[in-house]
Amino acid sequence: MDKSIKQNIYLIGMMGSWKSTTGKLLAERLERQFVDTDNLLTEKMKMSIPQIFKYLGEERFRREEALCLQSVSEEKDKVVATGGGIVLTEENRRLLRTRGHTFFLKASPGTLAGRIRNIANRPKLHGPGDLLDKLRKLTADRLEYYTGTADFIVDTDALTTDEVVDAVLEKLEEAHVNA
Ligand code: S3P
Repeated sequence: MDKSIKQNIYLIGMMGSWKSTTGKLLAERLERQFVDTDNLLTEKMKMSIPQIFKYLGEERFRREEALCLQSVSEEKDKVVATGGGIVLTEENRRLLRTRGHTFFLKASPGTLAGRIRNIANRPKLHGPGDLLDKLRKLTADRLEYYTGTADFIVDTDALTTDEVVDAVLEKLEEAHVNA
């Protein structure tokens, strides 16, 4: 597939990696539409993410998330922020690899813990135990998927949100992507 034509830009990475915040800024800079798979899901299901997890279960959440990604991947020209667990299925990873330019916004568990404000809205972080430990474990389980799926990796630990956007735009330019 020709990846130089206008396609979606996908942002992947852990909770707190600034996918939504920088995705909105990036969409503004590129004059593209911004979409967030979590928002698509909550609109479709008419439930919050914690409600979906609680009443329908994580498996159903993942199925609905995959359907959202599928329908978004049939469109183009969008900036798409994804849920942190989107890389857990092979089919999602395949779509992310083949249907656009995918950026892994990388951040250490310590950085993520410092950025995450809303734990109540994130069922994967609920329950007893230390936030940092949970983030370490989830990162360890997923790192290989994020790095193996992304076309580009942006290390965001030392960056501001604007600098993350600049880094994404620079990488697109270097790769001669006509964004
Ligand atoms: C999840 C991340 C969340 C949301 C859900 C599950 C995860 O999205 O999809 O709570 O498994 O990492 P954000 O990464 O946007 O917080």
